[in-house]
Amino acid sequence: MSDTLNKSVLVTGATSGLGLALVRCLRDAGYHPIASARDAEKVSALAAAEGVAGYLLDVADHASISNVIDRIESDHGPLWGLVNNAGIWLEGDFADYTPDQIKAVLDTNMTGTIMMSHAVLPGMISRGRGTILNVVSTGALYTRKLISIYSASKWAIRGFTGCLEAECAPQGVRVMGFYPGKINSAMYETAGVERDLEVSMTPQQAALMVRTMLDDETMVWSQVGGRSILDYT
Ligand SMILES: NC(=O)c1ccc[n+]([C@@H]2O[C@H](COP(=O)([O-])OP(=O)(O)OC[C@H]3O[C@@H](n4cnc5c(N)ncnc54)[C@H](OP(=O)(O)O)[C@@H]3O)[C@@H](O)[C@H]2O)c1
Repeated sequence: MSDTLNKSVLVTGATSGLGLALVRCLRDAGYHPIASARDAEKVSALAAAEGVAGYLLDVADHASISNVIDRIESDHGPLWGLVNNAGIWLEGDFADYTPDQIKAVLDTNMTGTIMMSHAVLPGMISRGRGTILNVVSTGALYTRKLISIYSASKWAIRGFTGCLEAECAPQGVRVMGFYPGKINSAMYETAGVERDLEVSMTPQQAALMVRTMLDDETMVWSQVGGRSILDYT
């Protein structure tokens, strides 16, 4: 195992919420975070403001993923970590969803996470070292009405993460899932949904947990969850 491998961590969906807080948290802890997201202007602004590398990477554009990963690894060396954080919310009656809405959620939250992992894993396995951390959700631990497709996307990633965890750990690669409750981010507003976020964790609290899971390479933190103490009413 090489100790000289740079701890570069690619974060998807890094221009807002948990992703943005995580980039800052990793940078401040001495990691080499690489920020990515789907909006070119936001990525450039983030890279300049935070003093980190930024890449345009739309995880729902599956055909472009391996090219972007190749470019990142050619610029920064092999990735030590990948945090599959990019995600979008969809809420309402299943019958009212349009096919495009359904496709966007599955392409982003589910297939995006799978294809990102597929692009980085061979390198990690060949080096016998690496970490993939998937931001899942408490929505993958229970079922309720009005979130059928978001829930389907996250349940799929719960299964994917658990299977890969067992497959990759013997090869020195950690695959872990983080299952947060409500985070005070723009996710609901972006989806056009009003949500009271007074009782929620901050993106910084969520980021600290993710960083803690990344820190100790001798541990595979399997299914780590959490929610605000005020959320137990
Ligand atoms: N907020 C919650 O209560 C909550 C709870 C549990 C789990 N989560 C999960 O936590 C993760 C982060 O969510 P958040 O709350 O921080 O939401 P957020 O503030 O809306 O941030 C989501 C980020 O993902 C980016 N993104 C969206 N689609 C993308 C795509 N196709 N390719 C690349 N980037 C894309 C967004 O970019 P744009 O700004 O350009 O859209 C944004 O930077 C998600 O996986 C979410 O499902 C959130």
